Amino acid sequence: MTAIDPTRTVKDLRQQLAKWRAAGETIALVPTMGAIHFGHLSLVELAKSKGDRVVVSLFVNPAQFGPREDFATYPRDEEGDLVKLGEAGVDLVFVPDIAEMYPKGFSTTVTMSDLTEGLCGAARPNHFNGVATVVTKLLWQVAPDVALFGEKDYQQLLVVRRLVHDLNIPVEIAAAPIVREEDGLAISSRNAYLSPDQRKRAPIFYQTLRELAQDLESGRGCDSAIVKARYKLEGAGFRVDYVTVRDPDTLKTLEGPVKRARVLAAAYLGQTRLIDNLPVPLPTS
Ligand code: PAJ
Repeated sequence: MTAIDPTRTVKDLRQQLAKWRAAGETIALVPTMGAIHFGHLSLVELAKSKGDRVVVSLFVNPAQFGPREDFATYPRDEEGDLVKLGEAGVDLVFVPDIAEMYPKGFSTTVTMSDLTEGLCGAARPNHFNGVATVVTKLLWQVAPDVALFGEKDYQQLLVVRRLVHDLNIPVEIAAAPIVREEDGLAISSRNAYLSPDQRKRAPIFYQTLRELAQDLESGRGCDSAIVKARYKLEGAGFRVDYVTVRDPDTLKTLEGPVKRARVLAAAYLGQTRLIDNLPVPLPTS
């Protein structure tokens, strides 16, 4: 077991990065909130192919959690994470504490309209402003050549692309496909909250979205395909927040039969909020 030593301050982070840059090396950044799993590790693998040095940040960002959300109970395992990331060959793990990220008197926020308002933004007001603020800070602290984000959080990925474009941040944003458990459930740190019975039912979420994507591919209109999917999820005990079919670039609502789209959904199993999404058309393999 080869744990990597964490870097805790922006000053130390920049000192190390300056050495790599002076040697002409490129930097790839993978921002995370820790509780490292195979989804995160797939981003690390992609990062290795995109940059000479891979930096991973571990920071459970209080600014993106609502007052009634799970900030206090969000899974944390710094020691385990440092072993996993060391073994994955990461070059630097940045683990700032809250005071390093948000020093006393901190009063600047990055806010975004439009993209942030629907879907997860509707159920989680201010969530995406918290994400936009911390991602802007991380991009400025690390100044990577490329930063990697998972399609698992599809709306977040588009928010990050938008913010980089709007604020002229010189970084390439690379997307990684969703990593799933064998039964199809998208891997997530929050899956740890599921009881054994809920965990058994959870793959129905993915199966229903797949069927929805297939219905759309075979020419069924959005509305009736969505009604069918919602009915199936509710019948299986999910409390649906949204099931929707959107333009994959703008997240604008689509109607009728569609050629190219993204199906996205959020639903609760007990207290646990699951999110997932799939492209239309589905990939062939
Ligand atoms: P976190 O939930 O830890 O996720 C970190 C990154 O891993 C995100 O880009 C997310 O989309 C990706 N990811 C998570 N599960 C995945 C899976 N099953 N397959 C592929 N990628 C997956 O997302 C955040 O943290 C935070 O909002 C953050 C961007 C770090 C800002 O605080």
